Amino acid sequence: MHAVQGRVEATLSRLLPPAEAIPARLHQAMRYVCLGAGKRVRPLLAFAAGELTGASPERLEIVASAVELIHAYSLVHDDLPCMDDDVLRRGRPTCHVEYDEATALLVGDSLQALAFELLARADIGTPQRQLEMVRLLAHASGSCGMAGGQAIDLSAVGQSLNQPELELMHALKTGALIRAAVMLGALCGAPLSEEAGMALDRFAKRAGLLFQVIDDILDCTANTATLGKTAGKDAAAEKPTYVGLMGLECAREFADNLSTQALDSLAIFGKDAQRLIALTDFITHRKF
Ligand code: IPE
Ligand code: IPE
Ligand code: MG
Ligand code: MG
Ligand code: MG
Repeated sequence: MHAVQGRVEATLSRLLPPAEAIPARLHQAMRYVCLGAGKRVRPLLAFAAGELTGASPERLEIVASAVELIHAYSLVHDDLPCMDDDVLRRGRPTCHVEYDEATALLVGDSLQALAFELLARADIGTPQRQLEMVRLLAHASGSCGMAGGQAIDLSAVGQSLNQPELELMHALKTGALIRAAVMLGALCGAPLSEEAGMALDRFAKRAGLLFQVIDDILDCTANTATLGKTAGKDAAAEKPTYVGLMGLECAREFADNLSTQALDSLAIFGKDAQRLIALTDFITHRKF
């Protein structure tokens, strides 16, 4: 994990515009939100999925960076006063606090554009494959993916969603990008059989939902210093969460079941799925 995290940090640093390039303040802010922190779970998933298809690290570092750029953009916008209004992210002041709101908006815009530039520019497969990657990441980021999930999240404040509604919100706002990370990693290597592709997609959907269920749990069980973001925000902001829906103990049980289901979908890959198995364990038992 440390090797992949280091590689992604170096790739992002190389691919982001230099801090002194004009407009310097925007480029500094882009580097501020992308570098030096973050668990890099999505890049780790892309690399682990790439092991199933024999993908090269040179290709994987590009798709992993593209997904991480979209993720970083989503966090910058998620923290804005018009959304979750958070002042702390990854143990540091949020982008709009350290810089200003207009810069935070533009950072998000620019990171999103850079992500697609990377997928289109780098040599990461046949042109047809790269087009498929662009389509996949675009769909996962837009109104039928992350941005759509964020819209549901905002409109659900103060409401009590039922379980299918909550599942859809989580699957979109967080699950879609995690699923894209897994599938993009696999797409960097040899094609999977239809059966294996479907199994991997099932894994990715379950892991994505699991990730946000654990995020809900941590929001009300971990402290601010450990999380690197303000704890207890969901209840304070009246956000529908799995903990709110079913209580802490049942949410934990639900997460454990999801984790088992995610691991079940990997059975077809045998030992090749070792790293995906380890990451599922990490996602399930993470402390931040
Ligand atoms: C936080 O994501 C926001 C969610 C989608 C739940 P992460 O927990 O992956 O945040 P970083 O990248 O490690 O900071
Ligand atoms: C974030 O969900 C989802 C996205 C950023 C797309 P949260 O609002 O729960 O994430 P945190 O808890 O602020 O990291
Ligand atoms: Mg949010
Ligand atoms: Mg938030
Ligand atoms: Mg949260």
